[in-house]
Amino acid sequence: MKKILVVSVLMGVFGGASAADIEAGKQKSATCAGCHGADGMAINPQYPNLAGQNAAYLVAAMKAYKDGSRNHPVMKAMVSALGDADMENIAAYYESLRK
Ligand code: HEC
Repeated sequence: MKKILVVSVLMGVFGGASAADIEAGKQKSATCAGCHGADGMAINPQYPNLAGQNAAYLVAAMKAYKDGSRNHPVMKAMVSALGDADMENIAAYYESLRK
């Protein structure tokens, strides 16, 4: 009788799944720091704090600026060059910062 080690197969599949890369996001966020702060806490209240915000929310916000459904010319320009993976990494980085 053959025993199929389903558990180890599944662990191999899910264990290898790539999570968002916080370190890459930190590097990509260098251009954002001028307004949103080096630690995601904006110095000027006209800019929202990003530190500790939910990553899925941040990705949705960036995509909305990019496609224009959230209308803000400055932020549209900031995210226009970012791909989905960049946005997920940046969002994971900001989510990881605690206030
Ligand atoms: C020139 C200043 C400036 C820079 C640089 C900038 N932002 Fe923004 N950002 C803003 C402003 C202003 C808003 C608020 C816009 C609005 O009212 O929707 C904002 C809003 C946001 C929001 C929505 C926050 C929320 O609470 O809804 C996200 C996410 C964001 N920025 C991400 C970024 C990222 C990522 C970068 C770098 C790639 C960046 N920003 C660079 C000025 C800036």
